[in-house]
Amino acid sequence: MCGIVAYTGSNQAFDFLIKGLQRLEYRGYDSAGIALLNGGLSVYKQKGKVQDLIELTKGKDVHGTTGMGHTRWATHGEPNQINAHPHVSQNGDLAVIHNGIIENYATLKEALLKRGHEFESDTDTEVLIHLIEDIRNHEGVDLLEAVRLALNEVVGAYAIVILSKNDPGTLIGARKGSPLVVGIGKDNEEFFMASDATPIVEYTRDVIYLEDNEIAHIANGELKVKTIQNVEKTPYIHKLEVTLEAIEKGGYEHFMLKEIYEQPKSIYDSMRGRFNKNDLTFAMRSLREYESKIKNLNRIIIVGCGTSWHAGLVGEYLIEEFARLPVEVEYASEFRYRDPIITEDDLVIAISQSGETADTLAALELAKEKGATIYGICNVVGSSIPRITHAGAYTHAGPEIGVASTKAFTAQVTVLTLIALGIAEIRGKITKERLRQVFAELEVLPEKVEHVLKNCADKVLEISERYKDAENFLYLGRGVNFPVALEGALKLKEISYIHAEGYPAAEMKHGPIALIDENMPVVVVAPKRGYYEKVLSNIQEVKARKGNIISIVTEGDDKVKSISDYAIEIPDTEDCLVPILATIPMQLLSYHIAVMRGCNVDQPRNLAKSVTVE
Ligand code: G6P
Repeated sequence: MCGIVAYTGSNQAFDFLIKGLQRLEYRGYDSAGIALLNGGLSVYKQKGKVQDLIELTKGKDVHGTTGMGHTRWATHGEPNQINAHPHVSQNGDLAVIHNGIIENYATLKEALLKRGHEFESDTDTEVLIHLIEDIRNHEGVDLLEAVRLALNEVVGAYAIVILSKNDPGTLIGARKGSPLVVGIGKDNEEFFMASDATPIVEYTRDVIYLEDNEIAHIANGELKVKTIQNVEKTPYIHKLEVTLEAIEKGGYEHFMLKEIYEQPKSIYDSMRGRFNKNDLTFAMRSLREYESKIKNLNRIIIVGCGTSWHAGLVGEYLIEEFARLPVEVEYASEFRYRDPIITEDDLVIAISQSGETADTLAALELAKEKGATIYGICNVVGSSIPRITHAGAYTHAGPEIGVASTKAFTAQVTVLTLIALGIAEIRGKITKERLRQVFAELEVLPEKVEHVLKNCADKVLEISERYKDAENFLYLGRGVNFPVALEGALKLKEISYIHAEGYPAAEMKHGPIALIDENMPVVVVAPKRGYYEKVLSNIQEVKARKGNIISIVTEGDDKVKSISDYAIEIPDTEDCLVPILATIPMQLLSYHIAVMRGCNVDQPRNLAKSVTVE
């Protein structure tokens, strides 16, 4: 995690750096810092958020047309001022910002200590900049070569930017495993670097995404890229498509709320142009190109983390139901370290909003090595996962900035629905009639989401007010709605810090039922379809122990409503699409409870949106 941003050009760097850090703050907010070249090298850093850094720099000299900034999610060393980035070299001439982990930093540090280096912080990053300086001094090479040689000694993941007091107008950036985007201003008058494109989009649409093991060197208004093996590269310039409005709050109090309300559109965008309901065909190139592979598949393995893993669980139900193909869903972090059995007839699907999650990326690399076909369902265009997969589908949900995932989840589930149907069609497991029914429902899904958002707002506020002080919450669901219960619980605990657990409704009696008393709110997904009667019995079991029932029911269903303390209605839809509609009130419930408890919903404590460490 951590966000990094840098600038060199004819304008003052400070405002760009601060605004850029605010855009990247979702990546970590333990501390923030900047470095500016202005004859000397000025470094300002502070524990806490970018706002604390702004306070620190008030009244200070922050001029300089070359600079860089960092917002940190702590890995090595507690989140304090000393461990904040930028870190400087022994003689103070060089500074670095870093996103990632230098795994062999202890060995490198030991060698440097023997050579007389002294360290201020506990970080792996400080070791790197000392190493670069050490190489430069002892090998008599220039800065770029020293960086290249140092990176050859480093084991781990990094996106870095380096500034040198004696090289004004120079930025050196490099990446391996963590993202780094380079923006090219008009007529090469200015250059930008950042962990993602959001700080840059306001200034230029021309960007290059550095590849692993590449170094970008900007000096004298010129950008050059080479590998750490010293091979010159001709960078490919991408045109950014993201708009400025998409990354701003647009009148909403929080990004999370904006993103919840964007779902009618993001769900529509995630399926737009991907199927034709008239001739019942798919226009998903990623599936068409792999038709023969799909016909011969043995199994699908889905990997992901957090909310994306929950989407994967929904995918498991959908693919097994429609395509009759066995699916396993794994936490990427577990999968990668347990020597999994993978064959060439497996399709491994990685789900990731950011496309950068270190564990998911590594799981996918492992599957690729073992000969599987690898497929990505990602949101961030140009991110690492889509670049290593054989095929994939973007979710097109637009930038998601709130740390708690909302619209990315519903877009992931929409895409998984299409994939399940597509695979079913290729393998001849679905009738035309069934396809027609689901396509028809998919088409009206955005409207139904809109309807849920409008209809449940007041009820959710009322429920939030009633339960905002609860200490525990239980979420229950069955079948395809079990992952929805998991996601509901995750959302609540992430942003309101209330302990919440998601459970398959029938499993409740094997443990959680012991927790139920008159203080326990239990959110139950109880649509009229699916295992309706069974869920009804589970609700009765909760009621019998005086638990409080908050049910999510199909419009017009009075039976569950009559035994619930609160009921939230959603329109009827196909079973496979209930997870999307049922998720929406849960997102709003978490949001309102968190706001009522005074929590920072967009930046919950200890979390980060893009987890580029394992
Ligand atoms: C973090 C975020 C979650 C996200 C998870 C996986 O924990 O806070 O919202 O679901 O990472 O991220 P990904 O980008 O791979 O979907």
